[in-house]
Amino acid sequence: MLARRRVLLIVSGSVAAYKALELARLLGKAGAEVTGLLTGGGARFVTPHALQAITGRPLAADLWSLVEEGEGRGHIRLARTHDIVVVAPASADRIARMAAGFADDLAGAVLLAWDGPLLVAPAMNPTMWGHPATNANVATLLARGVTFVGPEEGPMAEAESGVGRLSEPPAILAAIERVLTDPTHGAPDAELEAALDAAIAGISGEDAAPRGGADRVTTRASSFSASSHPEAPHHLSGAEVHASSFSASWSSAAAVASHAVAGTASGALPLAGRHVIVTSGPTHEPLDPVRYIANRSSGKQGHAIAGALAALGARVTLVAGPVNVPDPQGVEVRHVETAREMLAAVEAALPADAAVMAAAVADWRPAEVATQKVKKGEGAAAPPLALVPNPDILATLSRHARRPRLVVGFAAETERVVEHACAKLARKGCDWIVANDVSGDVMGGDANAVHLVSAGGVEDWPRLPKGEVAARLADRVAEALR
Ligand code: CTP
Repeated sequence: MLARRRVLLIVSGSVAAYKALELARLLGKAGAEVTGLLTGGGARFVTPHALQAITGRPLAADLWSLVEEGEGRGHIRLARTHDIVVVAPASADRIARMAAGFADDLAGAVLLAWDGPLLVAPAMNPTMWGHPATNANVATLLARGVTFVGPEEGPMAEAESGVGRLSEPPAILAAIERVLTDPTHGAPDAELEAALDAAIAGISGEDAAPRGGADRVTTRASSFSASSHPEAPHHLSGAEVHASSFSASWSSAAAVASHAVAGTASGALPLAGRHVIVTSGPTHEPLDPVRYIANRSSGKQGHAIAGALAALGARVTLVAGPVNVPDPQGVEVRHVETAREMLAAVEAALPADAAVMAAAVADWRPAEVATQKVKKGEGAAAPPLALVPNPDILATLSRHARRPRLVVGFAAETERVVEHACAKLARKGCDWIVANDVSGDVMGGDANAVHLVSAGGVEDWPRLPKGEVAARLADRVAEALR
């Protein structure tokens, strides 16, 4: 789909600029025609020779070059001859310049003359990303219809960690594809700013139907700005929601920001008024007060799905097993421990329009739970471990009297993934199965390659960050409920 699409890649000053070379390579491999443009800061991290060699095209380099203007590669021409402009990495300074409309260098001039799809991939220190100035600049750009991908959470330069890492090149590539295929991207709407505010109010619970999680959401979002920057306004701005979503999330910003903008561009979020139940994480099945049976599920994928659905306007009840990831923004979370508690919480959350059962539920639990810690005893044999089956939450819900219209299960497989998933679809009675191969680093990792299995067939999705998988799945849920 990127074949012959003309991409102007603006690389600004960041230690992550080296990833722009990989992005350019991936774009070229996908058939895109890439023109590189290094800002002054970008040129301190990436050499013009490297970017030009990888794109195979002359760089756009100088606002004041008579040669470039004469050859028709001046800033206006650049702004007329591309299908998309991508700023990756986008430094805090570049984002500020874009928000203010500076045109004192070639990148600024091109961006000011550009009125097509614009994708921004920020990369900066977490404190800079969380600063109210950056918040306000991002909000300004979001309201203008700019799409963001990232930043991600993780270790940074200078031995710091937090939200600020540039998204990985495959995630930026996927975001470019999404922007180019979605006509609402990059098309500022007269109602956009108001609709974005409404969406944010919905996420924070300000105007939405009362939800148990709303207080916590508002508190976290405001503490994001207020704790680190006391002068930040209490009211949730677009950037606060955007940024705080990511401070609490491993998902790519495309998952939330571009979704919120895409949804608001047409005036209403696609899942507004819908209730979706999501399960996530493992369950713990106690043996005694200190021991339990568990599995390696981190909850990253399920939590990202809950966040992505909320970003599309859904009221989301997330039933979460014991995990170490934070609650997603704008989601009502029920924390449970065992499979039986998870089933009870899911049933209590009904009715719902859809359910996404991403939890790795323990299939068995100990037949008996000791009330006191089981002691080894001197030379005693290991105690036998008798197990009994747990209820199957997905199968129960699929056949429930109050079955949601759309029931989505997951299949964690280590071999014959699609074959097992097809069997699971029939056995459990759900509508779709998201099948993944968990033999590698999927459990606990940040990326996932899934197959979407339904009665209509099997779709193979590429390996993507879990936030991107979540965003795509949320889109599909929205489509199915439309
Ligand atoms: N699931 C569930 N309740 C269970 C077991 C699984 O709701 N007791 C759900 C999971 O949330 C997932 C789907 O069923 O959506 C498939 O889970 P998976 O662990 O892949 O399959 P199992 O049913 O456990 O089958 P098997 O262990 O044979 O692969």
